[in-house]
Amino acid sequence: MILVTGGAGFIGSNFVLDWLVQQDEPVVNLDKLTYAGNLENLKSLQGEDRHIFVHGDIGDSSLVTQLLNRHQPRAIVNFAAESHVDRSIHGPADFIETNVNGTFRLLEATRVFWSNLSTEKQADFRFLHISTDEVYGSLPPGKPAFREIDTYKPNNPYSASKAASDHIVRAWHQTYGLPVLTTNCSNNYGPYQFPEKLIPLMIVNALASKPLPIYGDGLQIRDWLYVKDHCAAIRYVLEGGRISETYNIGGWNEKTNLEIVQTVCTLLDELQPRADGASYSKQIIHVSDRRGHDRRYAIDASKIESELGWRPQETFETGIRKTVQWYLENQKWVANVQSGAYHA
Ligand SMILES: NC(=O)c1ccc[n+]([C@@H]2O[C@H](COP(=O)([O-])OP(=O)(O)OC[C@H]3O[C@@H](n4cnc5c(N)ncnc54)[C@H](O)[C@@H]3O)[C@@H](O)[C@H]2O)c1
Repeated sequence: MILVTGGAGFIGSNFVLDWLVQQDEPVVNLDKLTYAGNLENLKSLQGEDRHIFVHGDIGDSSLVTQLLNRHQPRAIVNFAAESHVDRSIHGPADFIETNVNGTFRLLEATRVFWSNLSTEKQADFRFLHISTDEVYGSLPPGKPAFREIDTYKPNNPYSASKAASDHIVRAWHQTYGLPVLTTNCSNNYGPYQFPEKLIPLMIVNALASKPLPIYGDGLQIRDWLYVKDHCAAIRYVLEGGRISETYNIGGWNEKTNLEIVQTVCTLLDELQPRADGASYSKQIIHVSDRRGHDRRYAIDASKIESELGWRPQETFETGIRKTVQWYLENQKWVANVQSGAYHA
């Protein structure tokens, strides 16, 4: 049994779906169902008794303690977080509450549970914390990609709250011996991503004949990782990662935001052409840049490859095609998110 938190969100739900295909081991899925949590992502698991969904908060210590004692998980994978940078700029409080205080309370409840396990079970136990490349700050052009030894320099409330959580996780190992692992991944994309993030937003706006807004000059660079590759990497780290180590996970795909949007437009032009025959790229507009917008992130994923043998299976070209196709085939999912029906 493993306990997954935030398993109704984008990456968490992909991970739960993938896990139950790859393994026999059941999953307890604790999720607060914020605006980003969507049980429709897990609809295919109806009647699957290896999936136990619990509606609740990682910061609710008594609930977490109760779940740990009842289900006796051998590992926790912590996806639960507030994750959208723009929202963190307009309302940072929720980010501090969940990403910092919530992670702290989850860790504390876990530490108490773990300290009462047998020595053998203590040694086998893992707390895997999912974090982001944004903790390393903005990378100047030409500088080598982020490595695990690089200094943390977060620049926005989201990345600062994630950086804080990473430090707390580290300290719970150094001080109490809790067997922790941390992964810092780059921008994920793929099925079930909430359409406020770049790629799904562009697909959805394009199809609705709306503008495709790009911050500033659109030359900000991110590394892009197909979500199912990320899910596999997490399984590798859980199985073989060295306790207290961090692992950077990336797709070896550095692209500017403008390139991403142009690629989405080209795929839509091919798969669902506009009625007037013009390219969707005509809908691109440039808007004022985001405050504190980091210019470049890039991940050096060679440690996870050399130590654990993981490498992404998708190229950007194959992953983005699958993603655009998924959104075209799942327009009801998008409509339910946009209307708010998914929360009913
Ligand atoms: N999406 C990316 O590109 C990306 C990149 C790097 C790192 N990450 C990290 O990966 C993790 C998952 O990201 P995502 O994109 O799936 O996020 P998401 O916003 O899609 O999902 C987050 C999930 O956590 C749940 N949640 C929020 N607060 C909670 C709380 N207090 N208690 C329990 N559940 C709570 C939400 O309901 C939601 O289901 C996050 O920790 C994020 O920082 C994401």
